[in-house]
Amino acid sequence: MSYKIAIAGSKGFLAKPIIAAATRIFADRVNSVVVLTRDESKEEGNISYTQVDYSKPDAIVSALKGVDALINTIGVGQENSAHRTLTDAAVKANVKVYVPSEFGTNYINADFTFHHVFSEKKKLFEYAQSRIRTVAIVSSMFAEFLAPVPKLVGINDETMTAQIYGKDYPLSVSALADIGNSTVSAVILALDGKDVPSHVKIASSTFTVGEFLSRYESVTGKKFDVQILDAKKDRETLEPTMDFMEYIRILMGTGASLNVPNHNELVNPGESLWKWTDYFEELCIPKWK
Ligand SMILES: NC(=O)c1ccc[n+]([C@@H]2O[C@H](COP(=O)([O-])OP(=O)(O)OC[C@H]3O[C@@H](n4cnc5c(N)ncnc54)[C@H](OP(=O)(O)O)[C@@H]3O)[C@@H](O)[C@H]2O)c1
Repeated sequence: MSYKIAIAGSKGFLAKPIIAAATRIFADRVNSVVVLTRDESKEEGNISYTQVDYSKPDAIVSALKGVDALINTIGVGQENSAHRTLTDAAVKANVKVYVPSEFGTNYINADFTFHHVFSEKKKLFEYAQSRIRTVAIVSSMFAEFLAPVPKLVGINDETMTAQIYGKDYPLSVSALADIGNSTVSAVILALDGKDVPSHVKIASSTFTVGEFLSRYESVTGKKFDVQILDAKKDRETLEPTMDFMEYIRILMGTGASLNVPNHNELVNPGESLWKWTDYFEELCIPKWK
């Protein structure tokens, strides 16, 4: 059986890898892709871009007629009415599976204070889950973000210091291509009636801060002065309104961004559908050289 999939949002990080997955690896399971965008409507091959206005919900219901699954890739911020409008429209249009714009840190059962972005995501997830079959993709940090910015784990090229919480803290990252593939795979499994959890956790790679530092040092030839920070103390400084990147640095550096165990085997059994991105070899080393 093949399905019609809609993607909301066209120019963020995720639409492209999700479209690529739907039209390549899963081309035999996806018969049509509709992208909802605030831009002009257009056709690109077998992808149809449909202009929508999130203040006109009835038109969104019409755009979703016949759609089996809706994947929301719209950013989450202070103003999130489009997310609720999409959820309501999906319910009215009898969409069977909804993927909220989650795509981030594993905060389920978290023992840290939520940033307001996570509180919003949680509310949007709960809003959707009470109305429609909802499958969220928990990817941890986008791998493409971390490779060029070692500062996110405390490595500072200007001061030649590595201010870290210890070398043994693990963290997971997911590459955009793997997130696109996993999202479409999870959607198809759910539409096929397979047992898919409400939060599908994935990770392209999991490594320790110490491994990241030693790989970075060996590729760049630099040597960093390691300063060990107090993980417990800094976790207590996490606040809902603090700078998001500083918040993420503490989360990742203290091991709170770990996606193991995960559902990699569910979405890509034995790597039979695609090869997971090798974080260091494919994304880091080419950038660091
Ligand atoms: N884990 C990570 O490291 C990480 C990193 C970045 C983002 N994320 C997550 O990934 C998801 C997508 O983030 P993003 O930065 O790619 O999103 P984005 O660029 O803010 O939005 C993606 C698309 O959604 C549409 N859109 C944006 N704001 C909208 C609004 N207010 N109302 C209606 N449509 C709107 C736009 O498409 P059109 O113009 O075509 O309508 C836009 O191109 C979010 O959940 C975000 O938290 C995770």
